[in-house]
Amino acid sequence: MRVVICENYEEMSKQAAKLVISQVNLKPNSILGLATGSTPIGMYDKLIEANKKGEVDFSEVTTFNLDEYYPLSADNDQSYHYFMNEHLFSKTNIPFERTHVPDGEAANPEKECEEYDKKIDAAGGIDLQILGIGQNGHIGFNEPDKNLIAGTHLTGLTDSTIEANSRFFEKKEDVPTKALTMGIASILKSKKIIIMANGAAKHEVVSALMTPDITTDIPATMLKVHSDVVVICDKEAFYGKQN
Ligand code: GLP
Repeated sequence: MRVVICENYEEMSKQAAKLVISQVNLKPNSILGLATGSTPIGMYDKLIEANKKGEVDFSEVTTFNLDEYYPLSADNDQSYHYFMNEHLFSKTNIPFERTHVPDGEAANPEKECEEYDKKIDAAGGIDLQILGIGQNGHIGFNEPDKNLIAGTHLTGLTDSTIEANSRFFEKKEDVPTKALTMGIASILKSKKIIIMANGAAKHEVVSALMTPDITTDIPATMLKVHSDVVVICDKEAFYGKQN
C-alpha cells in the first residue's frame, strides 16, 4: 500500500484526479469503478474541469459505481444515481449508457447483484477503482461483520453508517436501512485501487490501514492483500486533528 499525504482536501482531490486522468489518457476505454460520499466530490470537480479543457476525454470510458441504497428510486435526490449525475456524469462527455449504478429499485435484488458482477466481468474488469472509506472502515457498503461477502449483494446498514449518512437526509428515519453493494472480491478484482480519506474523523480508520493487521471488523483492511493500492489522504486523516 502506498500512501500520499496531502496538505488538505484540495490537494487530495488534485492528486487523485491526476491518477484518474493518467489512467484514461493511457487507456481511453478504461473501466472505472466510482464512489459516492463527500470525499470524492472535489476530485470529480477536477475531472469535470480537465474534461472541459480538453485534457481528458471520457467518451470511451465505462463506469461502475460501488453501491446504491435499497430500496430507493434513481430519481430520488438522495440516490447515488442522482449523486453521480449531479457531480460527474451530466457534466462530462461520459456516454450515459456506459455508466452503471446498481438498481435501487430492482424487483429481484439478488438477480440484479449477480448481473452487476457479470457486467463488470464482461466489460473486462475494473482498471481503476476509486474508494472512499466509512468512519467504521466500510468500503462501498461492506460493513464490519464476522463474515464479509465476496460478490455484489444486498446488505443491511449499521446504525453508525445510518447515523453518519443521515447528514445528507432531512431526518435519520429517511435513511434507507439497506443497500446494494459491490462485494469485497468485486472490489479486490480491480487492477488498481485508490482509496481517499480526509478529515480527522477518518484518522482512526486510516491508522488501521497502516498496521499489518487484516480484520473483517474493519473491511478496508482487506485492501492489504491487493498489490496496487494507493491511499491518498489529507494530513488530518493521516496524523489526526491538526492545531
Ligand atoms: C458511504 C458510501 C461509501 C463512502 C462512505 C464515506 O457510506 N457507501 O462508498 O466511502 O459513505 O462517505 P464520505 O466520503 O461522505 O465520508
